[in-house]
Amino acid sequence: MEAEKQLKQWIEESSNIVFFGGAGVSTESGIPDFRSQDGLYHQQYDYPPEQILSHTFYMKNPEEFYRFYRNKMLAPGAKPNKAHLALAKLEREGRLKAVITQNIDGLHQAAGSREVLELHGSVHRNHCLRCGKFYGLEAIENSSGIPRCSCGGMIKPDVVLYEEGLDMDVLNRAVGYISRADLLIVGGTSLTVYPAAGLIDYYRGHKLVLINRDATALDSRADLVISGKIGEVLGEACGL
Ligand code: APR
Repeated sequence: MEAEKQLKQWIEESSNIVFFGGAGVSTESGIPDFRSQDGLYHQQYDYPPEQILSHTFYMKNPEEFYRFYRNKMLAPGAKPNKAHLALAKLEREGRLKAVITQNIDGLHQAAGSREVLELHGSVHRNHCLRCGKFYGLEAIENSSGIPRCSCGGMIKPDVVLYEEGLDMDVLNRAVGYISRADLLIVGGTSLTVYPAAGLIDYYRGHKLVLINRDATALDSRADLVISGKIGEVLGEACGL
């Protein structure tokens, strides 16, 4: 059976779908990913982007961090694409239990998804390092240089930087959803960053679908591999 038809059939048969995704889910919304040829990590900067997006760099060079972060990590005006909309539709139909994402752009929630586990945090959540006060994205967008709290402390995005740990509660909930999933759809991720990529090992079913433009380390373990644009593939499979 053609792969796309098999995906459509598995989706129609399942009431316990879990999605695990990465930056490739948002490229059709105009947000570049990291490791594709045109991705963020292939562009030239004074420092390697992975170094800028680290805890050490953030503490030592906050001005440079925020310059990169405002310029490259915020996507004002980005809208959900068919991949986000298809997953929200599956959740409304009671088929999909959770979206687990490595993305920080909030586009799954903007598309209407309700159970979204953000393994690497979100640009929409920011806190003062001194008093803990919460700030939304506008506190970063509508400021320049180092964003400051009313108490004078530095406002830090709730985004997991390199060298920082993931939220254990989110990670444990993600393990729970994946270990119970009937159909696990993985898409738009190179599966190269841990512990996120290691979550796939908790899947115990036999319907592991991988939708990705480029090959990944998981291809040989997937029950179905579809090479293509995830917005188009999921949109088609979910009748969008
Ligand atoms: N459709 C399908 N696949 C796509 C599309 C698309 N429209 N666009 C890109 N891809 C694929 C690319 O082929 C690539 O394999 O998505 C994958 C994106 O991989 P990465 O750029 O490595 O992004 P991701 O896997 O999310 O990175 C994980 O790395 O830097 C950290 O914290 C950051 O969350 C990020 C983590």
